[in-house]
Amino acid sequence: MSYLLVLYYSRHGSVKQMAQYIARGIESRPGLEARIRTVPPVSPTTEATDPYIPDSGAPYATLDDLKHCAGLALGSPTRFGNMAAPVKYFLDQASGLWLSGSLVNKPAVVFSSTSTMHGGQETTLLSMMLPLFHLGFIVLGIPYTEPDLNTTQSGGTPYGASHVAGVSGKNPVTEEEQRLCFALGKRLADITLKLNG
Ligand SMILES: Cc1cc2nc3c(=O)[nH]c(=O)nc-3n(C[C@H](O)[C@H](O)[C@H](O)COP(=O)(O)O)c2cc1C
Repeated sequence: MSYLLVLYYSRHGSVKQMAQYIARGIESRPGLEARIRTVPPVSPTTEATDPYIPDSGAPYATLDDLKHCAGLALGSPTRFGNMAAPVKYFLDQASGLWLSGSLVNKPAVVFSSTSTMHGGQETTLLSMMLPLFHLGFIVLGIPYTEPDLNTTQSGGTPYGASHVAGVSGKNPVTEEEQRLCFALGKRLADITLKLNG
């Protein structure tokens, strides 16, 4: 069975929750598996000591997970209006896949969580797209035919799914945010199926 890679980093759990709603949207389509993977935090010991399976949550992604996916959903917390270093660090190891063109013409989407409403969701989502364009992905957003995009009072953008976690980081993912995550995963799956006949 083909899989779509849901690849994310999450320190406090918001992006992890979003990944699960996106995976549900993917798996609402027949014949596609959502393979959920995370990346380790960046620290002086990252490469030396982190095991393949973390103590809790999804396994760490390998470059082979990325190479063989039919499509990608990439998630990161917003860090100063940009993606978190662990996500960038993982992507920076993908130069072999860039050189071989292994990811060209595969669809991809992005998602992010912030603590504040205007703390840089859109800049983060757009900056996450940049390496995906270089790698050859076909980058997708959320169309305004999704009604929640017009009414949400929290997260949700045409550039990808988003969540406002609040200063405590504990805001629940709202129903609109959940539906937009699901819609983004479903759209990724639908386009993957169309591209692959
Ligand atoms: C170093 C750092 C920088 C951050 N920068 C921003 C920011 O620019 N805008 C914002 O709204 N939140 C910012 N945050 C808050 C996180 O984006 C927010 O808590 C997010 O929901 C965390 O996702 P997680 O629960 O998946 O780890 C920052 C947090 C840290 C630790």
